[in-house]
Order: sequence, then C-alpha cells, then structure tokens
Amino acid sequence: MIDRSEKKKAFIALGSNISPRLKFIKEALSQIETLAGVSLLRQSSVYDTFPEGNFPPGSLRFLNKVVEVDTTLQPATLLEKLDGIEKKFGRNRRKKNKSRQIDLDILLFDDIILKRRNFTIPHPRAHLRDFVLFGLNEIAPEVRHPVLNERICDIFDKRAMKIIREPEEARKIIENLKSGKKKVSLIPTMGNLHNGHLSLIRKARQETDFVCVSIFVNPAQFGPKEDYSRYPRTFGDDIRIARKEGADLIFAPSATRMYKSDHSTYIDVETLSDSLCGAYREGHFRGVATIVAKLLYSIPADMVYLGWKDAQQAFIIRRMVRDLNIPAGTRVLPTVRERDGLAVSSRNSFLNGSERKEAPRIYGSLCMAKKLISGGERNPARVAAYVKRYIKRYTRARIEYFSIVRTTDLKPVRPIKGKVLIALAVFFGKTRLIDNIRMNVR
Ligand code: PAJ
Repeated sequence: MIDRSEKKKAFIALGSNISPRLKFIKEALSQIETLAGVSLLRQSSVYDTFPEGNFPPGSLRFLNKVVEVDTTLQPATLLEKLDGIEKKFGRNRRKKNKSRQIDLDILLFDDIILKRRNFTIPHPRAHLRDFVLFGLNEIAPEVRHPVLNERICDIFDKRAMKIIREPEEARKIIENLKSGKKKVSLIPTMGNLHNGHLSLIRKARQETDFVCVSIFVNPAQFGPKEDYSRYPRTFGDDIRIARKEGADLIFAPSATRMYKSDHSTYIDVETLSDSLCGAYREGHFRGVATIVAKLLYSIPADMVYLGWKDAQQAFIIRRMVRDLNIPAGTRVLPTVRERDGLAVSSRNSFLNGSERKEAPRIYGSLCMAKKLISGGERNPARVAAYVKRYIKRYTRARIEYFSIVRTTDLKPVRPIKGKVLIALAVFFGKTRLIDNIRMNVR
C-alpha cells in the first residue's frame, strides 16, 4: 500500500496511429493533466515510429510520447483513470494489436514492482520497445528500471542501433565483437531500403549475432550518364526501417571518406564482368567489387548477404571474396517480387503509371522463356526471339539485352544446357530495370 499523502512519480506512454494522431495525443495529454491527484512534470518530444509487436504488415505508423507525472493515486487507480480516457477516444482494450486512436500505458511507477491479473508494473515490454525508450531516455535517462536494475540510458544505449560514419571506428567495433566470438553479418546496400533489402536483413538477423547494414550510394559504380545524382536517398526512413528489423549497426560513410579525389585503387573481376550488364555499363562492376571490398575492410563480417535480383553482381562478389581470400562467406537470397511479379527495386519508383502497369511483363517474359526451355527448346536464339516479341507486344520498353549464360563464367550457352542464368535488362524511358531467373537444364 502506498501512503495516500505521498506523491509518487510515474511515467506514462501515449501512442496513436489513427489520424489525426497529433490531435489525439494532445487531447489525451490535456485529459491526463486534469485528472485529480495527477500533475504533469515533464514530457518528451513526439516520436514518429513504426508499429512494433504483432501488427499486420502495412499497419500505420504511430506517434508516441512519454510523460512524467506526480501522483497521489495508487497504480491501479491511475490505470483505471487512463483506461477511462482511452474509452472516451473509443478504444477497445480487448482488441489486441489493432490500430488505435489512443493508447495509454503506465511504464514505471516509482520503484514499484507489481504483478496483477490485468496489469504489470513496470510495463513488461517497456524496455524492449523503441517507441517507449526514445521518450523515456529523453526525459528520464538516470531513472532506474526497478526490475532490470539498470538506468534507462544504459538500456537505451544497449538497444540503440549504432550509426557509424568512420571506417576505422566501424572496424574497431567489429574487431572487438569478433574477439568475443560473435558472428557478424554485412548487408551492403545503397539505401532506399525496400522489401528486397529487408529479406536480407531478416535472414542475417536469424543467422548471425551482429547485423551490419551499409548504406552508401557508390559513385564508382555509376557511369557518367547514369542516375547517381537522381538515385533515391532516404536515410531517415532507412534508419528507422533497419532498426525495426533488428540491425545492430548502420555503416554510412561519406563519399569523400570512401574516395579521395586521387583514389587510384580498383578491383577488376575478370570474365564475369564482361557479359550481361557489364557489356553495357562500363566500369560498373569494377565500382561494385571495389566498394564491397572496401566495405568488408571496414566491416570484416563473417557473412555477406546478397540478392539474386542482381545475379551477376552476386557471382562477381562471390568470386572476388574467394580470389582475395577474404575470410567471409556469401549468402545469396531469392528475388523479392511485388504481387504482380515485378522484382522489387529502388528504381521502380521512377516508373510512371502506365510503365508500372507494363513492368511485370519483364518477369512474365522470363517465365515464358523458362517454360519454352522446360518444354524442350534448346536454341537460345529462338528463346530470345520469343522474349523480344513478347516484350514488344505487351510493353513500350526497349530491351537492352536478353541473354542465356552459363553460371560458371556468365558466357552465352548454345545449346542451352546445365546451370544457366536467363537475364535481361530493359529501359522504360530513362529507367533501367533488370531481372533474371536461374535454371538447371538437363
Ligand atoms: P542495392 O541495389 O541497394 O542492393 C543491395 C542488396 O539488395 C543487393 O545484394 C541486391 O541484390 C539486394 N536486392 C535488391 N533488390 C532485391 C530484391 N528485389 N530481392 C532480393 N534482394 C534484392 O546492389 C547494390 O545495392 C550495390 O551494387 C552494392 C552491392 C551495395 C554495392 O554498392
């Protein structure tokens, strides 16, 4: 029992993911302020966060805030009053993980530890949720969590994803971890994170102890007429997404830090870089191999995660890792596609409405090619002619190349036999899209 005359400090989390979110937060806060026996002491900024926990994909983002109050109420009474406020907003507590006008939770109540049938104090997941920790750490970093017996700022620091810009600093962190026998992964990306990238982060999260995502739009892999300056840069969103997926470290060096004006060292992976995209994007794979080697120098990971979406790139990176005796494994994961078959890509955002409608035909043409081959066709020229007719008929895209190559050296096969990669690149206006499928032909 708490002495009724005695004021206790409590921390309350406010959250809303139904529009107008800010209005709901503000209204709920003013109602908390008018509760008898409660006075507001401090409040955090409002944080825009992704839903955490078992929310269905595509759930709306939350606005969250944490406030500190002085109260003479008992924990159960305070909770009752907060439930009362939630009800006024139309929230039904029995419906778990539904979008909500307002969600009010007691996070901490002095140093009280309480377990009742319908509530637990401190909130059992408070220390696991970013949307709580951000606000709590802002207004009460020194407060101790009574169960964990740790300061909020220490809990926050442990959970916080590191964002590192300096190569030496990254390397130090990773070397430290590795001496502690932690398995480290690297997912090299150019940012603008989408479901394709997320599939790699998730797998890495399952398979390794420390997940590093690099975000670097690499100038060395863009030709002079390519879209380096136009490439979508969404660092703020990328950080939130990576964090939500459980990344431990973001490595995001600056272009000038990675390439001095007189940078003169490059890695050329011969043969594999000659065909397919390499034949049309001069210097592209030299830029890719160089940056991945440099990234691996700063993040000496045990395992590198790549996507089959960029199959030639995956073959080249694998070969480079082997040839340079880099002590890392490579893991290549399947292409993530939109529902209509279009391979997810940052460049899809450049497509206009009608181009976007036609774009799934790229994958459609590859599936047709596969079907022809499965049906017995072994002449690559006939498959190519078919694919070209198909693309011409259903889209306004211009084919840059269509090719069926061996997976050993990425050279064209004739007749089609063994492990092959069927790949193409097309232009919708200025937007270049690539796709491929692999097949084992007996
Ligand atoms: P980026 O295009 O950002 O892709 C990063 C990684 O995500 C690559 O391994 C790519 O193959 C993978 N990926 C992209 N779209 C995918 C999809 N739909 N399904 C599965 N995986 C997908 O590729 C690069 O960046 C750069 O060339 C890089 C390797 C980072 C070097 O700069």
